[in-house]
Parts: sequence; structure tokens; C-alpha cells
Amino acid sequence: MSYAAEYTRSLQDRENFWLDQASKLDWFVQPEKALSVDDQGLYRWFKGGKLNTAYLALDYHVANGRAEQAALIYDSPVTGRKITYTYRELLDQVARFAGVLSKLGVVKGDRVIIYMPMIPQTLVAMLACARLGAIHSVVFGGFSSHELAIRIDDAKPKVMVTASGGLEIQKVIPYKPMVDASIEEAVHKPEHVVVYQRDFVEAPMQEGRDLDWEALEADATPHGWVELDATDPLYILYTSGTTGKPKGVVRDNGGHAVALTYSMRAIYGVKPGEVYWAASDVGWVVGHSYIVYAPLLFGCTTILYEGKPVKTPDAGAFWRVMAEHRVSVFFTAPTAIRAIKKEDPEGKLAGQYNLSALRYIFLAGEHCDIPTYEWVNNILKKPVIDHWWQTESGWPMLTNPAGTELLPVPPGSAGVPVCGYDIQILSPSGEELGPHAEGAVGIRLPLAPGCLPSLWQNDENFKQSYLTLYPGYYASGDGGYKDENGYVTITGRMDDIINVAGHRLSTTEMEEAVAGHPAVAECAVIGVADAMKGQIPIGFVVLKDGVTIGDEELERELVQLVRTKVGPVAAFKQAIVVKRLPKTRSGKILRKIMRAMADGTPFQPPSTIEDMSVLGELEERIQPNNPPKA
Ligand code: COA
Ligand code: AMP
Repeated sequence: MSYAAEYTRSLQDRENFWLDQASKLDWFVQPEKALSVDDQGLYRWFKGGKLNTAYLALDYHVANGRAEQAALIYDSPVTGRKITYTYRELLDQVARFAGVLSKLGVVKGDRVIIYMPMIPQTLVAMLACARLGAIHSVVFGGFSSHELAIRIDDAKPKVMVTASGGLEIQKVIPYKPMVDASIEEAVHKPEHVVVYQRDFVEAPMQEGRDLDWEALEADATPHGWVELDATDPLYILYTSGTTGKPKGVVRDNGGHAVALTYSMRAIYGVKPGEVYWAASDVGWVVGHSYIVYAPLLFGCTTILYEGKPVKTPDAGAFWRVMAEHRVSVFFTAPTAIRAIKKEDPEGKLAGQYNLSALRYIFLAGEHCDIPTYEWVNNILKKPVIDHWWQTESGWPMLTNPAGTELLPVPPGSAGVPVCGYDIQILSPSGEELGPHAEGAVGIRLPLAPGCLPSLWQNDENFKQSYLTLYPGYYASGDGGYKDENGYVTITGRMDDIINVAGHRLSTTEMEEAVAGHPAVAECAVIGVADAMKGQIPIGFVVLKDGVTIGDEELERELVQLVRTKVGPVAAFKQAIVVKRLPKTRSGKILRKIMRAMADGTPFQPPSTIEDMSVLGELEERIQPNNPPKA
């Protein structure tokens, strides 16, 4: 079927389209209805259906001819280890760890926070939760203990699972002290912390509360799957919002399994049995969906890569992994390609490897600039596909649907709407705009299966954050436009979220950290363009009267403060002291103007600006003597 026909059917015959997709899964009880509305007025998918995501990802394949196929290849250049797990072996580990969690009292609906590096045990812990119907919440290792504490207090986990540490190239990152500090700070206290000890760093253990993974596993009894409702939550993944508090995006079991399975066929064009590699981190949504769940649900082999695109050991690392494991479909963020391009501008290292198995390269996480797109296209001579999605959707919303029909998407565009998504460009008053008019990217409700049904225990915040701005539409927070052929270009966030090296971060959270410094009267943190990371944050601070701290000392302290409060992943490296911040007469800080000044792009001060002379003062501080540090 052509893309156009499939897309039209997905909107005009929504029920049957998604029931057909659902029928491809081995439900315990098949859903009779695809879409329904709950008593809060929120859309739910496949109500009445019963399934278990871990069963579909493991037991089903073991029972249907894939027991000896590789399910997971762990390739870790930082430790020099490579381990392959067959579907049978992975199932065995998951069932045993589900037994461990069950013995600790974890039951359906309990939350388990997982704060772990890129090791097989992380996937085992996630799938073990899914097996029990416990709700996992994975927190990315680059976040601080404070960020972890916020998530502990929101999710209220019964158990936390961690490892003694991670390796960032050669730097050892001890994870356990972060977990200890987060529990100390949080009001909610988990009953137990299960710790996987790695051989290069030993975690301090607290008697009674902390338990050793290997000791528990040694005498664990394997646990079977628990039958779940399609609408039961599978996980919570916290993501940066426009307030200082991250949003707990909920993913259900049924919609998620159906959508991800469909995406493997229709979007990624991969076949069961092939090797699929998403070079992301399990702490992000890409890692959840395309390192863990989708490849396993679809019967592929997934790769868990504990390394970087460069320096582990060189800029040929990605090509080495693809050649060695015969990767068919590869997915990464443009920033990783830019990092490779910087070290190997002519892409010579790619020529050293046999990439004949590779069919498509998918990019997401941030806008893909045309030079990066063209560079990777020229080096690999395979279709490069930019596709757009968010933590909230859990799977792509715009793409070039390689598995259905490869379309002539122009470089710079993220493609056409994925089946099930009615994507519209909206004016500030919510009217649908025509070709080439830039506006807010909205999705006419209902969202597709797999998208967040709500925020964790906060339907009101869900409605407020996403559904009220443009009634009848989901507000994505991104801006963009369509061309006359319907190809959509995403132009960037319209709010205070920035994207640093493919990592979504809130400038509000960074502002809260900076404002906590005793010398700071007020501040603004904005994202400015960066050649490698896409964007980096810069802080502008106004000092309290009478404060005499030197600029460099202040900057050092503010950088440390953001590392402690948000985490090193924020890559906050520059703070500029200014006399005043530009504001409107009503006191709103004009961040857009500051961003334009720092990026060196033209801007028009609004008529509501409080005092034009502040712009001259700022220009002196921002340009040309203070270019952003890379
Ligand atoms: N645990 C602990 N610390 C982490 C971490 C983790 N999992 N991931 C990153 N950090 C730390 C790094 O050590 C670094 O700390 P430093 O300031 O002390 O050096 C900081 O966070 C920033 O790290 P990173 O964003 O990785 O920047 P980098 O300059 O080290 O590397 C890239 C740049 C482009 C190579 C890297 O960002 C990258 O591989 N990006 C791809 C992103 C991606 O896949 N995103 C997923 C969306 S699809
Ligand atoms: P996250 O929720 O961390 O996946 O971040 C989602 C945000 O990243 C989106 O709202 C966009 O701003 C940005 N993003 C992701 N993919 C793309 C893309 N292909 N093009 C442009 N922006 C993207």
C-alpha cells in the first residue's frame, strides 16, 4: 500500500486501522475496540485488551523459533567487553530478576526507579518490571542527585536499582553516592536499593537498605509474567518542561506495544531477525523505545553500545559496530554525526569497514542541519532519514516512512506525518495555516497509540500543559511549517526548552540553580547556537548591589552550581554579568532578544520593551568579545 493510502486510512478508518495493527500481537485477550475516552475525558487505546509487554518481547519469541537468536549484543569499548544474549538467555535473566523484585515486595503498579549506565542489567531491570506490571522510571545518568530526588518524590518508588558506576570514556562516574544523596534529599524513601557492582568501582552499601544484585540473583526464583490491561502503565519517563519541575510522561502497555511494532515495519523498514541499532542512551525515550522495546517486540537483535561516537577509541567507532554486528538499520542524533565529522572531516574511517548490511540511517533528537545531513549521506551513500518525535509521543510523528514507501523528502525537512498523526501548523489563535506559513506544530486529537495518555498522577497538568493552548489539538511546543507537498520542517522549540547534544533540558531549571547563588539578584539562561551540540546554555546574571565577586570566580561557582543541581549533561559553561536584563514594561524577560544577540541574528525589539538603552549595554557584553564557548 502507498504511504498516501495508508495514511488516509489511518485517519479515516482509525478503528480498523489500529485494530488490524493490534491483531499482529499475541494478546492474552484481544481488544475489541481501539479508541475510547475515559471519565476524565482523556483518550485511551485498546481498553479491554490484556497483554504483557515483557512476554511479547521475550517469551513469545522463545516459544516461536527465536530462542537461540541473539536478542541483545552488549558492545562496550569503554570496558573492552562484548557479550551476546540469546532470547532464551535474556528471558532467563529477566525472569530471575523479576523474581528478585517480587521477593522484595514489588507488585503490579509499584514504581521502581532505575539509575544505571548502559549495561545489560539496565535492560534486565526494565523488562523485569514490565514482567511484573511494576512501573519503571529510568533516570539518565548525566542528571544530578537533586534531579533524581525530584523524580523520587514524584514517582515514590518502592525499590531503586542502580550500579556502582559508569565510564564516560575513561572517567569513572560513581553512581551510588548520587543515589545515596538523592535519597537523603528526597522526602520519600525507597525500601531497598539493589546495586549492581561493577569491577572498576565499588559502591558503598547501607546495611539493610542496600542489596547486592548478584547475591539476590544467585538464589532467585524465576517469576512469570503478570496479565495486564492495555491501559496499565508500563513506565514513567521524566522530561524537561517549561517549569522547573520535570513532567512524568506515562506510557501505557497496549498502545505502546502496537505502535512500536507498527513503526518497525512501516517506518524503519526492518525485518524480524535483523540487527537494529539505536546509538542513544536508555535514559532517554529513544533508548526506551528503540534500544529496548521495539527491537525486542519485533524479534530483532538490538545493540547496547557503552561508548561514544568519538574517542572510544576513535571517530570510526560507529562504523566498526555496524560492520561487526551487521547492522541493518541505524539510528542516532545529528550531534553524534557532527562529533564524528569534526574528528574525521573526510569520513575516511567509514571506508575501512564493510557496511553492506546497512540500509537506512535515521536521525532524531534535534533538527538536522543540511551540512550534517549531506555529509553523512555522502560518506555512507545510503538513505539518511531525519524524523521528528518527543518523549511525549514515544515514537516518530514525522518521518520518511522507509518501510512503506521512500518519499523524495527535501533535506532540512523531517518528512510527512506518521500514520495516526494529524499534524497541523497553527496560528496563535489556533487556526490551521497553509503551506509555508510558520506556526506552532499541533496534532489534531486524538493522538496516535503509544503517545502519553497523561502525566503521572496529574491529569490536570497534562491538560494544562498540552491540551488547552489550542483546543482540540495537542501542542507539541515546537514551531514549524509545511511545504506545498506536505513535507514538514521543524524550526525549533517555541518555549524555554533547549536541546543540548540531543538532550532536552529546561532553561528554567538552570535559572533556578543560578538564582540560588548568593551574589545573584536575577538571571536568565538561554540556549544559543553551537556548531557541535546544536545548542548550549549561557547564563546572564545581574549581581546584587554591593557584591564584589570577580567574573571568573562567579562563573566557576555558577558552573558548579548547575552541575550539582541539574547535572553535567546541561553543559553549562558560560555566565555573563550584565547590569540589567531586557524586559517588557510588565517585567517579562526578553529572552528571544538575548538569544538573537548571542547568535548574531537580526531582531526587532518589541514596542513593549521597558528601556531600549539596556540593549546597548547587553551588546557590549555579548558581542564581539564574548562569543559562546564550545
Ligand atoms: N552519566 C554520567 N555523566 C554523563 C553521562 C552519563 N550517562 N552522559 C554524559 N555525561 C556527562 C559527560 O561526562 C560530560 O561531563 P563533563 O562536563 O564532566 O565532561 C557531560 O555530561 C556532557 O556530556 P555529553 O553531552 O556526552 O558531551 P560530550 O562533549 O562529552 O560529548 C557528544 C559530545 C556529541 C559526543 C555526545 O553528547 C553524544 O554522543 N551525543 C549523542 C546524544 C544522543 O544520543 N542523544 C539521544 C537522543 S537520540
Ligand atoms: P525529547 O523529548 O528529549 O525527545 O526531545 C523532543 C524535542 O527534540 C522536540 O520537541 C524537538 O524540539 C526536538 N526534536 C526531536 N527530533 C527532532 C527533529 N527530527 N527535528 C527537529 N527537532 C527535533
